[in-house]
Amino acid sequence: MPDVTPPVVRPRRLRTTAALRRAVAETSLEARQLVLPVFVREGLSEPRPIASMPGVVQHSRATLQAAAAEAARLGLGGIMLFGIPEQKDALGSAGLDPDGVLNRAIADVKAEVGDALPVMADLCLDEFTDHGHCGVLDDRGRVDNDATLAAYAEMARVQAAAGVDLVGPSGMMDGQVRVVREALDGAGHTDVAILAYSAKYASAFFGPFREAVDSSLQGDRRTYQQDPANGREGVREALLDVAEGADMVMVKPALAYLDVLRQVRDAVDVPVAAYNISGEYSMVEAAAAHGWIDREAAILETLMCIRRAGADVVLTYWAAEAARLLAR
Ligand code: PBG
Repeated sequence: MPDVTPPVVRPRRLRTTAALRRAVAETSLEARQLVLPVFVREGLSEPRPIASMPGVVQHSRATLQAAAAEAARLGLGGIMLFGIPEQKDALGSAGLDPDGVLNRAIADVKAEVGDALPVMADLCLDEFTDHGHCGVLDDRGRVDNDATLAAYAEMARVQAAAGVDLVGPSGMMDGQVRVVREALDGAGHTDVAILAYSAKYASAFFGPFREAVDSSLQGDRRTYQQDPANGREGVREALLDVAEGADMVMVKPALAYLDVLRQVRDAVDVPVAAYNISGEYSMVEAAAAHGWIDREAAILETLMCIRRAGADVVLTYWAAEAARLLAR
């Protein structure tokens, strides 16, 4: 072998032992940074599995409360509630009904966990509309931005009355954060915070979620969710939401949008969340089920890398499991 000049600089030195690697890690992954999204379906007496999301279920009222109690015990950063009503209609009325499945779930979970776990709720009409869109439609069948804002304002008041700590407007209507803030403040709910789904993209990776909420959507959401081609626009949406009063902003999906996440983290001064969505979950689960990847390692790497890219908080269907893995 030829003589070579040995390197003077050796980054490998700091990788020598596990303890040293831990000491110099730039990013942490902790239970408090993870939020668990959960589905509760009206009329269920037993939880119902979601075929496209192995390990995730539609909860009954009772199992939802148990899941919330466990999330609190594990020290998670929150629970994000999605409701699936028995009856859907064109206006999404069940979402605005104080006795509707989501609003009852908020009250149930709040009664279970009190202030030990932040209780968050999806503030959007798509789980409640028979056409599956995130807003109400005009007479030509287009999603009507401003008519939808009125529904969101009412939904925010009802969720706050049920006891929610943070509302998550996810419908990508222009002006939704301002309207929700005004509605909350006008009803005296000045402490209810807004986690704005700011940069939300019209993504194929939402596929399994549509089964999870029994979505009846025909077509797509491209007139309101963002074009995957646009990164700068994601930053613009986040800045607008902060100006309208968002307490936290979100980038969604996470994995194909880590560049947007980094840009948003650098542009705003509020906490940034990222949503590790259904398709991202199901891809790992499917590959692991085939024995193609190491499931637990892939989960922890996924969540760590979303944190490294700039997420203060990660919404993930693995939140409870990851918290258990991290405690080992
Ligand atoms: C809309 C909403 C969606 C998700 C969360 N909130 C679906 C959509 O926009 O089509 C997707 C979450 C996931 O895929 O895990 N209320």
